[in-house]
Amino acid sequence: KVKNTKYRLNYHMMPPVGWMNDPNGFVQYNGEYHLFYQHNPYAAQWGPMHWGHAKSRDLVNWEHLPVALAPSEYYDNGTIDDHGCFSGSAIEKDSELYLLYTGHSIERNPMQVQCIAKSRDGIDFIKENQNPVIDHFPKDGSKDFRDPKVWEYDNQYYMVVGSNKDGKGKALFYQSSNLIEWEYRGVVAESNGKQGDMWECPDLFPLEEEHALIFSPMYGEKNEKPIIIFGEMDYKKAKFSQGKSMLLDYGHDFYAPQTLIDEKGRRIMIGWMDMWFSKRPSEEDDWAGAMTIPRELTYNQNGKFVQKPIEELKTLRKNHHQMEGFDIDGVQRLPDLDGSATELCIDFDIANSDSSVFGLQLRCSKDRSEKTMIKVDTINEEIIVDLTSAGKGESGIHKAPYRSNTNGKLNLRLFLDTTSLEVFVNHGEQVITNRIYPHASSNEVDLFAEGGKIKVLNVDKWSLRSVWK
Ligand code: FRU
Repeated sequence: KVKNTKYRLNYHMMPPVGWMNDPNGFVQYNGEYHLFYQHNPYAAQWGPMHWGHAKSRDLVNWEHLPVALAPSEYYDNGTIDDHGCFSGSAIEKDSELYLLYTGHSIERNPMQVQCIAKSRDGIDFIKENQNPVIDHFPKDGSKDFRDPKVWEYDNQYYMVVGSNKDGKGKALFYQSSNLIEWEYRGVVAESNGKQGDMWECPDLFPLEEEHALIFSPMYGEKNEKPIIIFGEMDYKKAKFSQGKSMLLDYGHDFYAPQTLIDEKGRRIMIGWMDMWFSKRPSEEDDWAGAMTIPRELTYNQNGKFVQKPIEELKTLRKNHHQMEGFDIDGVQRLPDLDGSATELCIDFDIANSDSSVFGLQLRCSKDRSEKTMIKVDTINEEIIVDLTSAGKGESGIHKAPYRSNTNGKLNLRLFLDTTSLEVFVNHGEQVITNRIYPHASSNEVDLFAEGGKIKVLNVDKWSLRSVWK
């Protein structure tokens, strides 16, 4: 049990106790969503990696299940995962659930190999006798060879694995007819020189007419913001044509996202709502790490790629407040908007306003010495999340570009939880995710406008209930 619940979130996935990093094995199996995650059950710090496990019917209410994978297995050919079951994915075959993960060893050379564990009930997993199913990195890779993501296409199984060579991050591509025997097909995509020297957690999937590749790049020892690249996948040539790319999230606390396709045909992504360099005040209470809210990856009516909070999140809503058509000039507290676990949806009319910097102050203390600011800078077309006075956590300033809609309007949809803030700009065109650690009593909300007035068209606000007991 955790020592103190003060930093626990209301409606985000988090470990019951101990450490959590990447989402793993995100899949729908027998109608239920399963989410595994990199987990150290014994401490609030990273350690020998287990796969923690939870399931859900709606991706909102979660039930914790027993740890699915633990390190330290010995085989005839030596140890494979003594130092951890690293990140990977899940897929169903002949009604069994297969987990594909990286066995990490400090005794074996090479240190990272790909392994399988199977289950008939989705709860108890047995590691495959034939592990490792890929026992060595290929010529195009290196000892950093991890995070297999598997999918099925045209009666074949495919896998991308993250690696690097010659200073470039790479996605290595494999094919199989049975999930056990894998043929190496080549480098399916690699860094263009500016996208990192190591790719962690690659995920390649169809998205409407195209394919998309997401990965979490490293630059030297440093992990950086996950990237999405759009392009066409040629399975025959084993090549992904790398077209346009963008950051999936402009905040500090977003890493190692993974997607699934569900029975409704939705491509849903969830990410680790922290990263290696995050501050984690909750460690003193024996836990650390959380997941973002699930986001549906899709295109809007203008053909723009968007990340939409999944519909099911609406079931968390209670106590609706609405305000329509008013101007803000200076700073104004709006008492109806207060709260620490809330959803706020605001439409601004930029075209008919004269303020060039406006926005919100959230999680404010009475004296305003503590506050989390969201500023819209209409001259530079940037949304800025300013954490300088946000409390105990990270204190950086995070900027995302935006374009006001053709009609000069801007929509901000904010998901606040006790220790997090996820900002969706223009219905998911950009997202900015951060953990924040203000005092529980810092709950007031202001709207502000500098150098003139801002026209607020509409505000909807809900309190969001807790899904944890
Ligand atoms: C990404 C990562 C993965 C690895 C796992 C280890 O955050 O470094 O590449 O499999 O975490 O916990």
